[in-house]
Amino acid sequence: MISPYDSPVEIAEGVFWIGFYDVSRNLHCNPYLVIDGNEAVLIDGGSRTDFSSVMMKLLQTGIKPSAISHLIYQHYDPDLCSSIPNFEDIIDKDDLNLLSQRENNVFIRYYSVRSRMFCVESIGRELTMKAGRKLRFILTPYAHSAGSFMTFDERTGTLFSSDLFGSYDIKWELFVELTSGCADCEEEEPCPGGKDYCPVKGIKNFHRRIMTSRKALKYAMEQILPLKVERIAPQHGSIIRKKEDIGLLVERLMTLDNVGIDGVC
Ligand SMILES: [Fe+2]
Ligand SMILES: [Fe+2]
Repeated sequence: MISPYDSPVEIAEGVFWIGFYDVSRNLHCNPYLVIDGNEAVLIDGGSRTDFSSVMMKLLQTGIKPSAISHLIYQHYDPDLCSSIPNFEDIIDKDDLNLLSQRENNVFIRYYSVRSRMFCVESIGRELTMKAGRKLRFILTPYAHSAGSFMTFDERTGTLFSSDLFGSYDIKWELFVELTSGCADCEEEEPCPGGKDYCPVKGIKNFHRRIMTSRKALKYAMEQILPLKVERIAPQHGSIIRKKEDIGLLVERLMTLDNVGIDGVC
């Protein structure tokens, strides 16, 4: 059966979701490709086990692997980094750049990296692609790694949030929409929007287990407030593109209790 997720999905001008729908998992990984003119950058490329599916989608966008100038990794976990050697082999060029944050780079080296590694702080926390698109890097320390950051595409208002806004859920759709009842719902109630699962519950559950503390999560949410965000593209879970949904989730996560160590002691 043909699924819309068998092809890359252009979620904004020049921004492609190149993940895949794995029905057997309750954690979906979302790598993204940003194409501007003849240049592309790959964001949170994915795991070694996912590599062939991601590579297939990447080629379906019509871009040649050699057009990729930067591999961006918003923290150092294997679910986004372990295919680094595979991408390096396919891209196969000496001037490929790997961009992360210095706290991450210490660990990313252990994926047998051969690209030139840079810290986002050494380039002024922004990257301007050759055709002019600007990507800004926003540090979110301890949400969840010391060197975690988000990437903001100014042209389209797309915020690549890495693990922030991720979700654990057996149900999955590429774009999620909350219902009008979500704002007042206590989660234990049957979904006022008639869904057979609760997207807010999956998001809260993920943040309680993955983020380090309420303080770190609140700080990360505060960094989003001044941005003109049109859509949030997380590394797990679903893309959020309604302004009211983004506002509601930022508010809920800003005040979430029992986050990480706070739920232990
Ligand atoms: Fe992570
Ligand atoms: Fe992750």
